[in-house]
Amino acid sequence: MKVTLFKGDGIGPEITDEVVRIIDYLKLPIEFEEYDIGQIAYEKCGELIPQDAHDSVRRNRVALKAPVTTPVGKGFRSVNVGLRLAFDLYANIRPAKTNKGVKCRYDNVDLVVFRENTEDLYIGEEKVIAEDEEIHAIKKITRKASERIIRSAFEYAKDNGRHKVTCVHKANILKQSDGLFLKIFNEIKEEYKDIEADSLIVDATCMKLVMNPEQFDIMVMPNLYGDIVSDLCSGLIGGLGLLPSCNKNDGYAIFEAVHGSAPDIAGQGIANPTALLFSACMMLEHLGFNEESKKIREAVDDVLSNTDIRTKDLGGTATTREYTDAIIERL
Ligand code: NAI
Repeated sequence: MKVTLFKGDGIGPEITDEVVRIIDYLKLPIEFEEYDIGQIAYEKCGELIPQDAHDSVRRNRVALKAPVTTPVGKGFRSVNVGLRLAFDLYANIRPAKTNKGVKCRYDNVDLVVFRENTEDLYIGEEKVIAEDEEIHAIKKITRKASERIIRSAFEYAKDNGRHKVTCVHKANILKQSDGLFLKIFNEIKEEYKDIEADSLIVDATCMKLVMNPEQFDIMVMPNLYGDIVSDLCSGLIGGLGLLPSCNKNDGYAIFEAVHGSAPDIAGQGIANPTALLFSACMMLEHLGFNEESKKIREAVDDVLSNTDIRTKDLGGTATTREYTDAIIERL
């Protein structure tokens, strides 16, 4: 099996090398095809997503991707958004689950954010009405995109024995756009009578997540809220170093950590590779290697529960390599 690999920017190469080392250790029939995207690719060939990288994803249908830097307030458009749009990866699935060995405020968080991935404000369509004076940003919500993300949240709940799906919105203010998203949620929930369905305004959702996250199960929401709420969820389980994700549709899947390229710690060999490793576990499950994924998850649990080997973000002193060595030792 061939999998496209993007090592990304900042801490990307450091964590990707360690994750690939773990997968290689299991001697699976997986071959990685590595390509550059983002700034590095642009410097080499003038394209942010070069054609050969694009073709590789199209051929392999599965990719493992490390974070890619996007300049703030200027410069090129996000490569992450570009890839999601290029392959119409409409579902961004972000499971946040407490790890026994990680000290945090809650014991039993086990929720999954379903973030719409192809429209809403997050696409970055902006219009300058008057330079430095007035800018408009377009919030686009369509029936097609809303239906497919909401239905995939309910289908996931059905297939995984989950009991509740919560729609997160701001339809009290955005009566038309978020109103449409909520209306479609209320239509689709009628097809899933066995699953509890409720809806919450995004600001109240944030408060309830911080006060009592254990009440949430599956959450579905438009793109920008999904971006923000899922980072909040990472904070509930111990930080960005732990939250994996998958961007998918019915044909293609790109697996990546929720976090960014962390320029503040890049090059120091201290980044936590767990979020990318758990993303790789989701990829292994997608490819049918459920046993191997389980083994990796158990090894991580063992290291975090029974040793003090952990990276700095989790209060430890281990380097990325020392932490990975400990996981491999358990495998
Ligand atoms: P960030 O997620 O890179 O970092 C936020 C904070 O979390 C930093 O203090 C960082 O050190 C820490 N952190 C993140 N991942 C960590 C890890 N694995 N281990 C230990 N600590 C970790 O967010 P920031 O700084 O806002 O963004 C940096 C760049 O990343 C930006 O250019 C942004 O556009 C890009 N980005 C890319 C994403 C992607 O490729 N999917 C997702 C989010 C941001």
